[in-house]
Amino acid sequence: MISQRIPRLGAFNIWRTAARHLLAHEIPPEQIMWFDDDTQSELFSETSVETAESVTVAKVPRQFLDVASKVVAHKSHDRFARLYKLLWRLRTEPDLLNNPVDADVSSLCGMVKNVSRDCHKMKAFVRFREFPVEADRRCFGAWFEPEHFIVELTGSFFANRFADMDWIISTPKGVSRFADGFLSFHPPDGNRHLAADHTEDLWRTYYANIFNPARLKIKAMQSEMPKKYWKNLPEAALIPDLVANAEKRVQSMREQAATQPSLELARIKAPTVKRPDVGDGAFMSIESLNKAARNCTRCALHCHATQTVCGEGSRGAKVMFVGEQPGDHEDIAGKPFVGPAGQIFHEALRLAHIDRKEVYLTNAVKHFKFTTRGKRRIHARPNQSEIQLCKWWLQREVELIKPELIVALGSTAVLALTGEGGSIKTRRGRTEQSSFGLPILVANHPSAILRNPEKADELRQMFYADIASVDSFSTIHSG
Ligand code: URA
Repeated sequence: MISQRIPRLGAFNIWRTAARHLLAHEIPPEQIMWFDDDTQSELFSETSVETAESVTVAKVPRQFLDVASKVVAHKSHDRFARLYKLLWRLRTEPDLLNNPVDADVSSLCGMVKNVSRDCHKMKAFVRFREFPVEADRRCFGAWFEPEHFIVELTGSFFANRFADMDWIISTPKGVSRFADGFLSFHPPDGNRHLAADHTEDLWRTYYANIFNPARLKIKAMQSEMPKKYWKNLPEAALIPDLVANAEKRVQSMREQAATQPSLELARIKAPTVKRPDVGDGAFMSIESLNKAARNCTRCALHCHATQTVCGEGSRGAKVMFVGEQPGDHEDIAGKPFVGPAGQIFHEALRLAHIDRKEVYLTNAVKHFKFTTRGKRRIHARPNQSEIQLCKWWLQREVELIKPELIVALGSTAVLALTGEGGSIKTRRGRTEQSSFGLPILVANHPSAILRNPEKADELRQMFYADIASVDSFSTIHSG
C-alpha cells in the first residue's frame, strides 16, 4: 500500500506529478491511500512514490486536467482518490469523460460545479478594507470564508482586477497576497482584517440606495447571496431592515406623483433626427435643413445649449464663412456672429467691402459648448467627435448653397473642412482643398484677437488682410 500526501498549497501540480508516477508504475487506485494537510498524519506513514525520475505516460485529455484543477480544490477528503480512479479508467476508456451518466464522472462533475460556484461567490463577496499605511501603493486586506480550497484558483482574478494596489485575502483555508506586482499563496494566517475603513459607511449608504424594494424577491436574493456569506459583508447588516420595510416603501412610492425626467435626460432620449440625404429630396432648401437641425441630437451638446444656431445669409452666396461654434450671445440670440467676435468679423467684412447679405455665415458646430464658472458660461472647444458629427450638417449646407469659396475661420473650421487639425499658424492666408471638393481660404478666428490683448493689433491687421484677400478670387466679386 502506498500513502501519498498532497499538501494544501500547490495541490494541483503535486497531485498531477504523483499521479503520473503512480500511473507509470501501474499502481492501481485501490493500492493508494491519499491524504492531505487535514488528515492526522500519524494515521499513515508516508510511503510516497519516487517522483524525481522522469516518466512517460499516455496523454490525458485537456478536459481531464480542467476537471482535475477544480476537483483538487474540493473540500472532500477522497477528492484525490476519486480523481486518480478516473485517471486510471481513462487508460482503457478514453471516451469516459463524455459519458455523463457514469457514476465517477458525474460525481466529479458535481464537485467541479461546487468549486466553481464557490469561486464565483468569492469573486463577488470579497470586501477589501484599506490599511492605513504610508506606502507607495495603497494596501488592502480582506477576510473571506470559502467552502473549498479555492484561494489559488481565484488568485489571478484578483491580481488582474486589483493590479494597482497591494492586497491580502485571508481565509481559513489559505492566504493569497499580491505585493509589488507579485502574487503568492500562503498557509492560513488567522488574520481577519476586520477593522472598518473610511469608506465603509459610504458603501453601506450606496447599497441602501441601490436596493430596489419594488424588485425584491427574497428567494432569488438569498440564492444569489446565501446567508452564510452575510457575516463578512458590511452591507448585509442592512438587509433585514431593508426587507422588512420594502412593502411600506413600495406603497409610498406608489402614492407619490410620478416625477418628470430631467430636461437633460428628456433631451438625450428624444428621438434622433432622421438622416435622409439631400439626394432623396428631403432637404431641398436651407429652410428644411435648418428645421431639421433645430431638433438635432446627434451629440450631447444639444443637452445644455439653448438652441441650434443655424447658418444664415444669401442662398446664392459665392462665399461661405465657417466659424467654430456659436458663443454665449449667439446661443441666446439663435444667430451666428452676433457677439464680440462677430463684431470684429463684421468690421473685417465692411473693410473688405463685402456685403454681409451677399455671403453665407455658418459654424462647424451648431451648438454652444461651454463650462460654467459661477453664472458665467465659458466657451469650451468642441472635440473631434462633436466636430465630426456636426460635419454632416455643414456638408448639407455646402451642397445646398454651392459657394465658390469657403473661408474657414480658425482651426475647428479648418479641421471640419479638410480633416486636418492642429495649428493653422503656417496655413492661414493660403487656400487649401476642402474634403467637400471646394477651395477653402484659411483664416484666423476673430476671437483670437480678443484672447490675445498684447498681440491684438497685429492679429487684427492680419485678420482684416485675410478677409480682404477674399476679393482676389476673381469670380466672386460681389458686384
Ligand atoms: N464664434 C464663432 O465661431 N461663431 C459664432 O457664431 C460666434 C463666435
